[in-house]
Amino acid sequence: MNQRISDAAIAAAPAYVRHNRLKQWVAEIATLTQPERVVWCDGSDEEYDRLCAEMVASGTMKKLNPAKRPNSYLACSDPSDVARVEDRTFICSPHKDDAGPTNNWEEPAKMRATLRELFTGCMRGRTLYVVPFSMGPIGSPIAHIGVELSDSPYVAVNMKIMTRMGRKVLEQLGESGDFVPCVHSVGKPLAAGEKDVPWPCNATKYICHFPETREIWSFGSGYGGNALLGKKCFALRIASNMGREQGWLAEHMLILGVESPKGEKRYVAAAFPSACGKTNFAMLIPPKGFEGWKVTTIGDDIAWIKPGKDGQLYAINPEAGYFGVAPGTSEKTNFNAMATLKENIIFTNVALTEDGDVWWEGMTKESPARLTDWTGQEWTPGCGRKAAHPNARFTAPASQCPSIDPAWEDPAGVPISAFIFGGRRSTTVPLVTEARDWVEGVYMAATMGSETTAAAAGQQGVVRRDPFAMLPFCGYNMADYFDHWLKLGEKLGASGARLPKIFCVNWFRTDENGNFIWPGFGDNMRVLRWMLERIDGKQGGVEHVFGVTPAYEDLAWDGVDFSKAAFDKITSIDRESWLKEFELHAELFDNLKGRLPEALAHKRHALKARLAG
Ligand code: OXD
Ligand code: MN
Repeated sequence: MNQRISDAAIAAAPAYVRHNRLKQWVAEIATLTQPERVVWCDGSDEEYDRLCAEMVASGTMKKLNPAKRPNSYLACSDPSDVARVEDRTFICSPHKDDAGPTNNWEEPAKMRATLRELFTGCMRGRTLYVVPFSMGPIGSPIAHIGVELSDSPYVAVNMKIMTRMGRKVLEQLGESGDFVPCVHSVGKPLAAGEKDVPWPCNATKYICHFPETREIWSFGSGYGGNALLGKKCFALRIASNMGREQGWLAEHMLILGVESPKGEKRYVAAAFPSACGKTNFAMLIPPKGFEGWKVTTIGDDIAWIKPGKDGQLYAINPEAGYFGVAPGTSEKTNFNAMATLKENIIFTNVALTEDGDVWWEGMTKESPARLTDWTGQEWTPGCGRKAAHPNARFTAPASQCPSIDPAWEDPAGVPISAFIFGGRRSTTVPLVTEARDWVEGVYMAATMGSETTAAAAGQQGVVRRDPFAMLPFCGYNMADYFDHWLKLGEKLGASGARLPKIFCVNWFRTDENGNFIWPGFGDNMRVLRWMLERIDGKQGGVEHVFGVTPAYEDLAWDGVDFSKAAFDKITSIDRESWLKEFELHAELFDNLKGRLPEALAHKRHALKARLAG
């Protein structure tokens, strides 16, 4: 039986697959998981259409009304499988300390034994899809290749949008190129004659990373980052390990370009925790009063950043699509995203309208009178339930975004002039602060905090430290990650290169009634413009304990009525809150003690002394 599957897997490889190690590995995984058949994905449109049609037939997807939303689909997941499962995510480095206190760890041999048991026969009755993908433009010196073996056709079609996927990747891989092996199963084998369910998954879930061998194994979930293994698993957790070894950065950052009316262009990369409006910021439309300014999008979630020969940092977006949070997205909050979503989209866990289109909370001011909600139940405005799941998503080709930057596929990447770090904090943290030097910037990023959201399963609305917005995504010890940032800054600085400036922002301060004070969205351009001026040497601003914040007059207020009093409220520094904040920083540092770089502990003492002083 095993022999038959193994032979079949090898025989099934198309002639253009020249990589024997890859074929052998596919055969081994097929032998272990025992699928009904093996399909090598070529990444063609025909293949995409066929898999989608099969999923429509099986009930996994609905085809949306082509007059409303051409070539688009809606998939609704099992209610138990709706977000990344951080408590089931493991970094299996040889030593526990190498995963560090912020990651779940398991000893590699022990985890391999667990996985071997779970994966034995787990694809019975299903198809194993071989999904070769490139993270980044194929052939770019900043890009890397992975191959995902998955028993989910939903994964295969999403990977076509989210990555460069298929035959061309295998051609690039040649006979012996390096790839990150990623194994994924929904964990629901089918007995002979057993009818499938629309969204197969398993209550037991494991999302496992082996940094030493650069492998990913994911079991039990078909959703998002648990299953589309190029994204968080490879492009962040495994790639952060690769970056550390090889001297580059894999970051949870959007990348955008800003062009002034004079035609001067800069690129910045910005880290925000999940569901904090990264996609909105990446696709920002400058507000009234900013005529002639242009913001363009390179990426909305992940950046791979490598030093160029000139010592500057160059970034690519390793992804080719957006897996964005739908609720809250509207023509008002993100016009470019809505334009991107007009066709060729996979929606997941949004509501279905009576005329075969989609809807989610926040899409329009008034909700439709009647919908089918994401769980398949009838929905009316007063029914007390949400129509779309709060973590409902769209999978959209980046090429369809009206603000896409002309250089978004440039294999050389784009030069980064600034890093921006932003948390979601209703109090304490000012609208924007510029770090006075690299170490101060790393300190700010390391101590970022955020109120939690729906992108991950678990409690919402509590402040958790989310260093660099990488808490769930750093594939090794967070203290070593801080050290990597400090060392890279030191090295680049020593080479005479001009380091990117570092800023910390907080769009989310609220008033006594819990309403956001800062309008956000397009108005964030005002802050962005000040940053560009600072990069170009503008002086002034208000220096305080943690860095430099603009004075009211430093921002351009054309086209908006935002009072100095409101500005003071969102830039004020409350001594008492900051004393408490420093205690929380101490808690984080204490958790990382042993490996925490001394420079950061010193910085905390120095800042605290300044505050006291
Ligand atoms: C995401 C996340 O899905 O950060 O991008 O959770
Ligand atoms: Mn993200």
